[in-house]
Amino acid sequence: MCGIVGILGQGPVAGLLVEALKRLEYRGYDSSGIATLEEGQLQRLRAEGKLKNLATRLHNHPLQGHVGIGHTRWATHGKPTENNAHPHASAKVAVVHNGIIENFQELRAQLQALGHQFVTETDTETVAHLITQKLNEGLGPVAAVAASLKLLRGAFALGILFEGHDDLLIGARRGAPLAIGFGEEEMYLGSDALALAPFTDTISYLEDGDWVVLRRDSAEIFDAHDKLVQRPRSQSLASAFLVDKGNYRHFMAKEIHEQPEVVARTLAHYIDLSAGKVNLPFELPPEMVKMERMTISACGTGYLAGLTGKYWFEKFARLSVDIDVASEFRYREAPMAPGAMMLVVSQSGETADTLAALRYAKAQGQHIVSVVNVPTSTIARESDIAALTLAGPEIGVASTKAFTCQLAVLACLAIGLGRMRGVLDAQEESRLVKQLIAIPGLMASALQRESGIEQVSHSLAKARDVLYLGRGTNYPLALEGALKLKELSYIHAEGYAAGELKHGPIALIDETMPVIVIAPSDHVFEKTVSNMQEVAARGGRLILLSDAAGAAGTGLDVTSIVMPDMPPEFAAMVYAIPVQMIAYHTAVFMGKDADQPRNLAKSVTVE
Ligand code: F6R
Repeated sequence: MCGIVGILGQGPVAGLLVEALKRLEYRGYDSSGIATLEEGQLQRLRAEGKLKNLATRLHNHPLQGHVGIGHTRWATHGKPTENNAHPHASAKVAVVHNGIIENFQELRAQLQALGHQFVTETDTETVAHLITQKLNEGLGPVAAVAASLKLLRGAFALGILFEGHDDLLIGARRGAPLAIGFGEEEMYLGSDALALAPFTDTISYLEDGDWVVLRRDSAEIFDAHDKLVQRPRSQSLASAFLVDKGNYRHFMAKEIHEQPEVVARTLAHYIDLSAGKVNLPFELPPEMVKMERMTISACGTGYLAGLTGKYWFEKFARLSVDIDVASEFRYREAPMAPGAMMLVVSQSGETADTLAALRYAKAQGQHIVSVVNVPTSTIARESDIAALTLAGPEIGVASTKAFTCQLAVLACLAIGLGRMRGVLDAQEESRLVKQLIAIPGLMASALQRESGIEQVSHSLAKARDVLYLGRGTNYPLALEGALKLKELSYIHAEGYAAGELKHGPIALIDETMPVIVIAPSDHVFEKTVSNMQEVAARGGRLILLSDAAGAAGTGLDVTSIVMPDMPPEFAAMVYAIPVQMIAYHTAVFMGKDADQPRNLAKSVTVE
């Protein structure tokens, strides 16, 4: 959600704060702001909308302070106005915050009764006043924060700056991530290592409940019981990743085009290429291999990757899969047979609902395997096994390359489990692995269809609603297509299992309704053609993603995007490319911001 940064520097920090916020903008972009200390006095600069508005303000009103905090916001409490933008301040402190303070109304009423005046609708302002109240009661800054943290409920990360204290920043982490960066007589605070990459690669991650007192030459970390603790320092790889768009217009376009490379890299991590077999880089406990049922939970696109994985686990490992979105699963009180596998899927590794589902399953005695892109994330660290996707940082808010890398890992896990469970013999495993190895090349060939896909996308821009249909593993992909289109272009879209069409959604079909059918010529192709006939009979406009045989084989008037020939098992990984491109090009054609769609944020650390 929101992005936080803090710098205790040797020179003016305002420009550096904005620089760091650029790398955090994917976490929220409703508004942004910074605060620094000038001659001990708090100075704030905030702006509604994109970060460039703040950069312009800073250009017109330069700030000179050597210590500061910054924030890019995804609004939870209060509209995305300048007044509600962080940092929030009271007389003596400025605060940046990611997450939600659940009991802010109660605290606000108590503070108002003590005479504190509130000027925003945010929960964050309560934290600034609460700490000020503790200072008013005679506590020093460190004790005031310690006392305030005990009164706050919710999941959050905080960065706090104190008037009159030029060598002090305090950070706190409960639920939402926070990292410390160590420099030469300089210290940094950031929501992730990526934000701090231009300044330092020596990073410590706060554990849940930790808070830290930063001075230019020290970082004292306290745990949830205020005990002084040490947390390991590591060398962050974030600076190795170039976070720029290269020659692409958007990060999303770049990330779509990176897929052959990152999927190949991910597959190589899980496959012994010379032996033609899956070689998992971790041991699966024997009880997990023998389990009768496994569970998958995730959110959004991660959930749809999991739903695709369900088809593969059931088919290749003969393993029943219970799957649910994490926001439902976490409260469902689902019974779970001890010793089985709970698999969670997450790009960021910080999604609040997915983390809660993981923790529920852990308490039920499950082995936790996470398919995760950020190795230092909370989900990766709380899992028994972190099965990494090697997609590299994904900056576009809509997930693309992380999704196909998740599919690559899930396919390898399903095949690996299939062998261990005696379902797949060596020959069958080698046949499937050969298909997987061919995927990056097929993806590269799918990317070459871009100009045709772009044309189709322009024809969608006028639609009010779009329907996506698919069967088998192309059913989750139909859901993913609809999700991508609505989040990027704001056109209403629905994904359906093609066989469900006649059970309701067919009522929507008329000549204004584009229906995108994802149907390689596999064993259910004929069934899908019947569904297409039902659409055609009602005047619906058909767009077909299929191979040459499929495109030639419907006998209907359809617009086809002809995909390379391939066996059906993993075709969804390749068909994901036109699905992503359709959403991207429709949005760009309509003048929408493909990297930062309205109302969304990349890392959803609130419920
Ligand atoms: C859609 C999208 C979201 C995320 C979801 C889960 O394009 O990106 O639906 O997939 O918010 O996020 P992670 O994977 O970080 O847990």
